[in-house]
Amino acid sequence: MSAERIPIGADHAGFALKEKLKATLESLGYDVEDVGTHSPASTDYADYAHPVAQEVETGEAKRAVLICGTGLGMAYAANRHPHVRAAVVWNTEIAALSRLHNDANVLVLPARFVSEEESVDILKTWLDTPFEGGRHERRIEKIEREEEQ
Ligand code: RB5
Repeated sequence: MSAERIPIGADHAGFALKEKLKATLESLGYDVEDVGTHSPASTDYADYAHPVAQEVETGEAKRAVLICGTGLGMAYAANRHPHVRAAVVWNTEIAALSRLHNDANVLVLPARFVSEEESVDILKTWLDTPFEGGRHERRIEKIEREEEQ
């Protein structure tokens, strides 16, 4: 079976953390697609959020990771895409809940508010936690219904 491909993107505020998490994902055996940014030079988060979210929207990727300073800009842009549920996560408990209850398919990290060490733990927890389904399935379907109107 081929490795799961995970797109990852960041702006300048998330660049250093992206490099760290890219290495973590590779060491875990994932096939990482780095959409940039590729330097700490100032850039715009939406330029990375949209191509990454597009892959999740179309099903080309099952899950993805985005990083900016607060996580907010990346989440705003990614969540405009149908079927994308991008969660800003700043500790392992929220990482687990974003999967268990919300079936988050994009992990968004606020690089200016989490350490590298915390981020690695958050990433691993997020990747390893399944969706709980049940009553949460119905709630997620209601998000999609609103999108279609
Ligand atoms: C960049 O300075 C910063 O505004 C950006 O990384 C992000 O926090 C936006 O939501």
